[in-house]
Amino acid sequence: MPTSPQSNLSAIKEPVVIHKGLDNVYVKESKICYIDGEASKLFYRGFRIEELAEHSTFEETSYLLIYGWLPTRSQLDQFTRKLESYRAIELRILDLIRTLPTKSDPMDVLRTAVSTLGLYDPQPMTDDLNAKTDKGLMILAKVPTIIAAFQRFRTGNEPIPPKGNLTHAAEFLYMLTGSEPDPYDAHAMDVALILHAEHEMNASTFACTVTASTLADMYSVITSGVGTLRGPLHGGANEAALKTVLEVGDASNAENYVVDALAHKRRIMGFGHRVYRTWDPRYLILKKLAGELALRKGQRKLFDTAVAIETSARKHLEGTPIFPNVDSYSGIVFHMLDIETDLFTPIFAMSRISGWTAHAIEYLEANRLIRPKALYIGKIDVPYAPVDSRSGRSQE
Ligand SMILES: CC(C)(COP(=O)(O)OP(=O)(O)OC[C@H]1O[C@@H](n2cnc3c(N)ncnc32)[C@H](O)[C@@H]1OP(=O)(O)O)[C@@H](O)C(=O)NCCC(=O)NCCS
Repeated sequence: MPTSPQSNLSAIKEPVVIHKGLDNVYVKESKICYIDGEASKLFYRGFRIEELAEHSTFEETSYLLIYGWLPTRSQLDQFTRKLESYRAIELRILDLIRTLPTKSDPMDVLRTAVSTLGLYDPQPMTDDLNAKTDKGLMILAKVPTIIAAFQRFRTGNEPIPPKGNLTHAAEFLYMLTGSEPDPYDAHAMDVALILHAEHEMNASTFACTVTASTLADMYSVITSGVGTLRGPLHGGANEAALKTVLEVGDASNAENYVVDALAHKRRIMGFGHRVYRTWDPRYLILKKLAGELALRKGQRKLFDTAVAIETSARKHLEGTPIFPNVDSYSGIVFHMLDIETDLFTPIFAMSRISGWTAHAIEYLEANRLIRPKALYIGKIDVPYAPVDSRSGRSQE
């Protein structure tokens, strides 16, 4: 709950409420995403996530999020062609990625590369919302190319340019390996991208909105999102959930692991959510995908271990609102697609650029600079002491 400390400053007349973490603070009206955390429901522009995961594609879902309606065939074709035309990255950006330390975290590389894209745009600053949207699409199209290029460089390989005529998801997998992915793998990646594309006013979306509200360029907007998603409290739990499953190693160890973790107040990764008080609807979809991939790839042991951890955790957490979230199986899906663990968060970013762009543009349609306040509780009128007569922190 918010706290309301008193300030003795005369300028502050009213009792002040501090919304630490901005819990339950609404910063705008939105038509983009609705989460019913009590009923396990998630809607993009009013469409149920289950329906989009089953029938839509990442391209179509991105169009829906950004423009607000499901595209006609010709709108979708045009949109897809536009992404295709933007997908390749400049040689100079490739050269930059090539020179970055191979030990860099891919999220740091992504943050640097998205920011650098802005340097090669002859007109990054514009107030025109259509032009801003287009720049969001350009970044959306290029990010898989950036991630794949870094992965190639750090493993001693040359980058693979986009092939063309592949979906966003399939292009990404293709640029990682140079082979066209198995159709089911491409489908699994596509669904994962749909599920990560948007999630209302989370920390990174808020960061993008704050940056957009200053009328900064879209490269700065998306760079803010990538930087915010970098933190382990936001992106990153999928990696931790997979590591747990790999460490537990076998379904027979799951019960001991869970009992020990809970006894020592350690969190079970992939469980719990600030908004969902029941299961996250994305978890069910990803669990099904992970189960299917496990069968296809002969990785039943990994999947069975994850299921055993889930079963055991739910048994011991019964009566609490701690249920599996999106991250409980997403890492397993990416792992079974042969993707390195530290690329999971960049893939999350690659997908979320649709949501970030949609929210930034929606906010700009009725912009107000975001400028909250901090309640000052320090001293005032402190006499300035010459440097040689200061006694250091003790004077505070
Ligand atoms: C996501 C998360 C930060 C949301 O937490 P929250 O709703 O703000 O809840 P709190 O952090 O205030 O925790 C409330 C209680 O539930 C417990 N809890 C929350 N998540 C838990 C988990 N995954 N495993 C075990 N206990 C958990 C906390 O220990 C706390 O217990 P306490 O009251 O006895 O101290 C939290 O559930 C978490 O850390 N989960 C693991 C990481 C993860 O999967 N993140 C991805 C989110 S999509």
